[in-house]
Amino acid sequence: MSDPTPPPSSPAGLPGEYVLGTDQTELVRLGIQHRLWGDAAHALWRRANLVPGERVLDIGCGPGYAARDLAMIVGDRGRVVGIDESEAFVREYNRRSAEVLMPWAVALHGDVQALDAVLEAGGESAPFDLAYTRWVMCFVPDPEAVVQAAARAIRPGGRWCIQDYFAYSTMTLAPKDEAFTAVVQQIDRSWRDRGGDPDIVGRLPAMLERAGFRVTHLDIEHRIARPGDFMWTWPGVFWPSVLPRLVASGHITPEMRSAFESAWARASADPTRFCLLPPVFDLIAERV
Ligand SMILES: C[S@@+](CC[C@H](N)C(=O)[O-])C[C@H]1O[C@@H](n2cnc3c(N)ncnc32)[C@H](O)[C@@H]1O
Repeated sequence: MSDPTPPPSSPAGLPGEYVLGTDQTELVRLGIQHRLWGDAAHALWRRANLVPGERVLDIGCGPGYAARDLAMIVGDRGRVVGIDESEAFVREYNRRSAEVLMPWAVALHGDVQALDAVLEAGGESAPFDLAYTRWVMCFVPDPEAVVQAAARAIRPGGRWCIQDYFAYSTMTLAPKDEAFTAVVQQIDRSWRDRGGDPDIVGRLPAMLERAGFRVTHLDIEHRIARPGDFMWTWPGVFWPSVLPRLVASGHITPEMRSAFESAWARASADPTRFCLLPPVFDLIAERV
């Protein structure tokens, strides 16, 4: 994909670029991430009883890895409408939908905090039967606006499946390593400095209830990665994307980066080590 977005050294980010960027590295990382966590997504959709023919809204869809799975489930009688603020990701989503001959999966460019306006401008009308939002609410400065708009977009009895973080900074190398932990804390801080909240799931149930949803399911996906496992790749592909950004934004020094990279390389070569991953929470809310 030709991508006009800036290199990862842009610390403040540009309009349409969230804190982790939208370049080729991030595009690949999101694909690997979907492979690794797709089982949890499918389990959640099954629990929410997603069926063929339904209309689905993918809020913060990225390049559409989950959306293409959703499109296969709902089929050509259904529809999957993605929304993302990254033009590059929206282009990629629509290009791939055409390539895999699933034109009922479309993406619109826009801010999910202004969901209603984006849908209207894109000629897509509510209501939707189900919405899906994964690893987006933790980056959004005004999550309440997204929740209120989703309440208007989902039909009564419709479901909202959310997968996101709480206690992000519990991500730890075992045995513990100070250089590793110091960088994880700065990742947490950098998201907060851009208006996000890596503990967002702690605030979501109350927001959802206020907006007219009933939380019917809340659970945790707590996983570990061991050197040599496919899951070890997940943090492994995150570091080249995030570390230069953290140095550029002043959250870590080049020395902290080197100490971290040495700690990770040592752990990667030692089959007795493991990494406790940040816990991902599964939530289903029903629109009352
Ligand atoms: C970690 S990615 C997750 C993408 C996708 N949901 C997935 O699970 O593969 C976060 C996505 O949220 C998008 N995003 C962040 N803030 C946004 C906003 N305010 N409006 C629209 N999209 C946003 C980013 O552009 C990025 O595509």
